[in-house]
Amino acid sequence: MSKHTDASIIDSWSRNTDPWTAAVRGGEIESRVLVTNAAIVDAVRARSPRLGVDLGCGEGWLVRALPEVEMQGVDAIEGLVEQARAAGGGTFRQLSYEQIAAGELRLGADVAVCNFSLIGDEATRGLFRAAPSYLRPGGHLIVQTVHPVTACGDAPYVDGWREGSWAGFSPAFADAAPWYFRTIASWVALFVENGLRPVEMREPVHPATCKPVSLILVGELAA
Ligand SMILES: C[S@@+](CC[C@H](N)C(=O)[O-])C[C@H]1O[C@@H](n2cnc3c(N)ncnc32)[C@H](O)[C@@H]1O
Repeated sequence: MSKHTDASIIDSWSRNTDPWTAAVRGGEIESRVLVTNAAIVDAVRARSPRLGVDLGCGEGWLVRALPEVEMQGVDAIEGLVEQARAAGGGTFRQLSYEQIAAGELRLGADVAVCNFSLIGDEATRGLFRAAPSYLRPGGHLIVQTVHPVTACGDAPYVDGWREGSWAGFSPAFADAAPWYFRTIASWVALFVENGLRPVEMREPVHPATCKPVSLILVGELAA
């Protein structure tokens, strides 16, 4: 189940590169514009990195938002990497988490950042296991994800695959992939099990509802 479902995430993203690029660049996702874009930029800047890598960079907006950092972006999807390269602001490589897990990203970065880009199960685990290949000792892995308590809805608060949906997005999107739900405790365990000591947690809230929009976790790789 998990292998098959991790692969369907890549299939889905490769079919939605154009609407995704339009949605991000056109400010179509309200929570990003109001809350989460600034939240992840602040979390990265708080670490004052010189060299950073954006894992699952999509069309590359976060690389462009950090001009003072020497940034690389990687993503599995060729169409998104092409969009990122065309807009510039850093260097971009087509690389999947599976390839990174196999040791293909050798970097020694001060920070690695995953902004809503950890969608699967085994792919995410592999990326965490490979942290010593792309982070320097003492470097930080920064993850922003949907807030588990808010995103859980009526389903049981336990880890597992959930149905995907493009509800709220433009009709140009097709074939939403399933995603792997993790509780807050499970996210923290993923950091700890992979030698990343949790050093910070942020829960940005929506300015109107005051409900948490996302969860940001920061782990420090053992020196
Ligand atoms: C919701 S988008 C986020 C993109 C970007 N981080 C942003 O903030 O706009 C999820 C991204 O994760 C990437 N992704 C998902 N699974 C991946 C994998 N196994 N290897 C590499 N990239 C992956 C997708 O291609 C997509 O660009």
